[in-house]
Amino acid sequence: MSGFPRQQADLIVTTDGPLLTCAAPDGGLGLLEGGAVAARDGVIVWVGGKAQAEVEVSLSEDARRVDCGSRVLMPGVVECHSHPVFGGDRAGEFQMRVTGSDYEEIARAGGGIMSTVRETRAASPELLLERGRRHLDWMLDYGITTVEAKSGYGLDTDSELRLLEVIAELGRTHPATVVATFLGAHTVPLEYRGRADDYVDLVVEEMLPRVAEAELARFCDVFCEDVAFNLDQSRRVLQAAKEYGLLPKIHADQLSAGGGAQLAAEVQAVSAEHLDYIDGAGIAALAEAGVTAVLLPGAVFFLGRTHYAPARALLEAGVPVAISTDFNPGTCYSENPFLMGTIASCYMGLSAAQVIVGLTRRAAGALGMEEEVGSLAPGRRADILVLESEDYLDLPYHFGVNPVAAVFKNGRLVRDRSGGGRGGLVSAGKPQAAEAKAGRAE
Ligand code: NIG
Ligand code: FE
Repeated sequence: MSGFPRQQADLIVTTDGPLLTCAAPDGGLGLLEGGAVAARDGVIVWVGGKAQAEVEVSLSEDARRVDCGSRVLMPGVVECHSHPVFGGDRAGEFQMRVTGSDYEEIARAGGGIMSTVRETRAASPELLLERGRRHLDWMLDYGITTVEAKSGYGLDTDSELRLLEVIAELGRTHPATVVATFLGAHTVPLEYRGRADDYVDLVVEEMLPRVAEAELARFCDVFCEDVAFNLDQSRRVLQAAKEYGLLPKIHADQLSAGGGAQLAAEVQAVSAEHLDYIDGAGIAALAEAGVTAVLLPGAVFFLGRTHYAPARALLEAGVPVAISTDFNPGTCYSENPFLMGTIASCYMGLSAAQVIVGLTRRAAGALGMEEEVGSLAPGRRADILVLESEDYLDLPYHFGVNPVAAVFKNGRLVRDRSGGGRGGLVSAGKPQAAEAKAGRAE
């Protein structure tokens, strides 16, 4: 018996294989061979070696014990850049793109983001909620337990507020933790073509105060790009956002180099996102200002392009690098974060460890939530993934598939996909009382 008080827990998840805490001080995987995670009331209270758990953790009578064999355990994925609430789709536009039309050309002709804006404005809140819920469900299937959701397909005050209200309702009702970002400056809507500054006035003088007053968003984002807003306009939006207490984020250097990364540093953005065309000065600016780079290789891939963000140069400069899907109807219609990991490996030269930390801890950093999600450590939410594989190197290697066997969110089992494969590893062997309790909770 040990001489110190044991941690009380109502959930323990164990493996004889790799446990990736993603909490190592060096920013690495924090790999434990044969590990356990214990939680109480949805919060992690203990992480360590499986044998040590016998000594240091005390389980309540109806605790859920989950023996995962030798399967990999890792933190829930944090999706830190997505556009999951919109009307319609762009499947037809995708066909135009793959047969020769260009993304910017379609946008200039009034398609692209504007075509989704038209369908979103015409959709009822109920439909938008149903669609948003479906997308978050798809994400949860892939182990995404925290989702940043942007507005940006309304582009008038009422439609933007409606989108943010739908996102708030998703946060109240979906198992995932949902973080809202106001993206009123996503593009200049058709009715303001040629009058971008007037539209920026609307964003700054009308939308932002309403969003802030209703406390509908934590972050404010802007698409800083030739086809959207220039540096001065982007700066105006982000500075105003800060005055209203929203934290700045920025879509920067996605389709061309435009100084967006430097602007991110100047306004002390929490993150700069895309960065496919960032240059040396931009990298230095992010490193100096401590801004997280959110890389979205799925968007480059799905646009049929080859100019990926310089991930290794960013890492070498000391910039924290997060990876996310950018799930949206135009540039990345995929909710599979592990596919993004494979693309990041193949085209950006990231290792499996860099990908996994990028999808979890670094993505949490891009939301200012490193103390809450993205790693397995005491005090974090008990958001735990059980993978079907016994080797984490399979994550980028076995590509385009869903490697997730089970998902715990706040200590609750919210997905168990294991039965279809090798046979009910998570649900089996659960004490009767825990089964009944989980059933009620879910
Ligand atoms: O992140 N870059 C701007 N926004 C999205 C694209 C949105 C769309 O095409 O509908 C992006 O790639
Ligand atoms: Fe985006």
